[in-house]
Amino acid sequence: MTNQIPEIKLNDGMRIPAIGFGTYKLWGNEGAGAIANAIDHGHRLIDSAYNYENEGTVGAALKRTAVSREELRITSKLPGRYHTYDKAVKAIQESLYRADLDYYDLYLIHWPNPIQDQYVEAWQALIDAKKWGLIRSIGVCNFLPEHMERLEKETGVLPSINQVELHPFFNQEEQRKWHEEHGVTTESWSPLARANEVFTNDTIKEIAAKYSKTVSQIVLRWHYQHGAVAIPKSASPKRQLENMSIFDFTLDDADMTAMNNLTRPDGRMNDLDPAVYEEF
Ligand SMILES: NC(=O)c1ccc[n+]([C@@H]2O[C@H](COP(=O)([O-])OP(=O)(O)OC[C@H]3O[C@@H](n4cnc5c(N)ncnc54)[C@H](OP(=O)(O)O)[C@@H]3O)[C@@H](O)[C@H]2O)c1
Repeated sequence: MTNQIPEIKLNDGMRIPAIGFGTYKLWGNEGAGAIANAIDHGHRLIDSAYNYENEGTVGAALKRTAVSREELRITSKLPGRYHTYDKAVKAIQESLYRADLDYYDLYLIHWPNPIQDQYVEAWQALIDAKKWGLIRSIGVCNFLPEHMERLEKETGVLPSINQVELHPFFNQEEQRKWHEEHGVTTESWSPLARANEVFTNDTIKEIAAKYSKTVSQIVLRWHYQHGAVAIPKSASPKRQLENMSIFDFTLDDADMTAMNNLTRPDGRMNDLDPAVYEEF
């Protein structure tokens, strides 16, 4: 894929880069330029969603780069309002039309919406869309272990990926352990905690100084050493490059532990608990 970014293998055999690129709030001409830049700098795993209203922007970015479609791993996500089987199938088709793509490499259910309780139907649609060649690998976001256990019990298929809020202030130790035991790859959303607290945290700043790396590189390396695929978003070409340059050093055990200890039970940024929060 690229020389710089190692790959990992998902439970269905698909390979993806160990770090990706988030696109939330990147849209329009400027957004397409930023995404094309990220690809030109070496990012190959691109994360978008139906609800970001930027699948078209991602499609436009792909037309601006010389990187071939086969080298890229493009992700989108199914919104909560389309969880019934028929609506889910149409939404997947619409996602493809918006991006002008024949297939997505990854398609994820955006939120389980357990009160609505239709995520198993949505999952069946993703399973079938994969059979029809519209999606190469299927996964979820924000699913708790109980939600994934139900998917497996009722359809026999576990997600390849679960994309969850994960950063030093909410490190999801239990959830990551469950993923590891069940062969589900962890993907970290808001891996830099949206650039708020991480950049002023003394522990992370000290570790950054010790390794002569930036705060962002230390945090993203911490994700990588936990086996989690981080998808940092940046509109800046300089920061995009910085964020993927994390494969030439290793955090030692003491520094990993110091970073692990920053977690807090209430560390979620906006209190989005998938057991009760629903997004449509
Ligand atoms: N599945 C879900 O429910 C879900 C939820 C939220 C997000 N996501 C996905 O996860 C992606 C990443 O999360 P996010 O966008 O919320 O937050 P994030 O990646 O943690 O942080 C993005 C912020 O960090 C800044 N930044 C990036 N690199 C930096 C660097 N090297 N130094 C200083 N600042 C830096 C960016 O500013 P600049 O752009 O100015 O560089 C931006 O303000 C999203 O874009 C989206 O694709 C998924």
